Amino acid sequence: MSPQFSEKALKQVEKIVARYPHKEAALLPVLVLARREFGRIAEEEEKLVAAILGIKPIKVREVVTFYSMLNREKIGKYHIQVCSNISCTVMGAETLLDHIRKKIGIEPGQTTEDGKFSLSTVECLGACEMAPCMMVNEHYYGNLDKKKIDKILDKME
Ligand code: FES
Repeated sequence: MSPQFSEKALKQVEKIVARYPHKEAALLPVLVLARREFGRIAEEEEKLVAAILGIKPIKVREVVTFYSMLNREKIGKYHIQVCSNISCTVMGAETLLDHIRKKIGIEPGQTTEDGKFSLSTVECLGACEMAPCMMVNEHYYGNLDKKKIDKILDKME
């Protein structure tokens, strides 16, 4: 069955689209909303967004494959994205990633069996000044150490 936005989400889409001079300009915020609504942006969701905005699905695919936050597969309730670029690596990101792997018991690219956590490594999160850093869903966490990570993840359990 093709995915459909809920009534509430459709109203949000209308509000978003109304903020822009052209429907296509609303693509990214509508995709973020779709990601929240469906938990992923796979081919069916791409087609839905394309139809709503009156654009070709390939235009949607181009944006979806550029942003790591727009996952194409279903992921856990909490998506942990650890930066693996140079500033974060110099500041100890590899050790922290190892700590997270052991703590939640999965490797990057995997989701815990209970569907609570997904783990990914990503290129620069654009927050190098607070390296090492990670994102959990839409929230940034920086200047991390093992203690901070434990505190952040324990709150999510
Ligand atoms: Fe990690 Fe830029 S290198 S946020």
